[in-house]
Amino acid sequence: MKSLQGLLITFEGGEGTGKSTQSKLLYDYLKSKTTDVILTREPGGCTESENIRNLLVKGNINKWDPITESLLHNAARREHVKNIIKPALLKNKIIICDRYIDSTMAYQGIGQGVNSNFLNILSKEITENIVPNITFIFDIDPDISLKRAKKRDKNTNNRYENFDISFHRNIRNYFKSLINTNKRYILIDASNSIEEIHLKILKPINDLIK
Ligand code: TMP
Repeated sequence: MKSLQGLLITFEGGEGTGKSTQSKLLYDYLKSKTTDVILTREPGGCTESENIRNLLVKGNINKWDPITESLLHNAARREHVKNIIKPALLKNKIIICDRYIDSTMAYQGIGQGVNSNFLNILSKEITENIVPNITFIFDIDPDISLKRAKKRDKNTNNRYENFDISFHRNIRNYFKSLINTNKRYILIDASNSIEEIHLKILKPINDLIK
């Protein structure tokens, strides 16, 4: 089988941490250097996965059983990996993905209490073991970032923003705890300015692509 030679860069963190703004800035920067770059997101990133996203991000917080919810995120991811991520990696492209596997471990595993061994086995199977080369973890106090997110999403009303504050604190602590577990993780202080964060992100990216 042809080897996967591209790069997968993921952005992770809680709600309203600024990761979508930063993934777009990184995309614009890389786009000015190469045409072989893709900006995508999860849940979503292709037609069927965006349809599943709508089922997940809208409605009442208790609408899904947590295991069902994990399966829906993994179903969306499977379509995304098969249709977008894997083909792009095979073509040597750089993929910037706003959320990926670590979000499921955080939100469904830690936040909603789904068995992490089950989630790990499922994840390996549906991603065909495709792990990011770099993962930026956006860290900020959820008391601040949730206010930011709720203001931004006034009309769209993201379901996850309605989970209580302890849910979001647990997620923050989990994301932070990943930092020393693998060298792919880089901690970003999301209380810094947009420009400062962008520069911090460029350093490891430039080391990786040079
Ligand atoms: P976004 O608003 O950052 O685009 O993400 C949509 C929501 O989906 C976000 O609140 C986190 C949640 N989510 C999960 O619960 N599990 C997952 O695996 C992913 C990718 C996202």
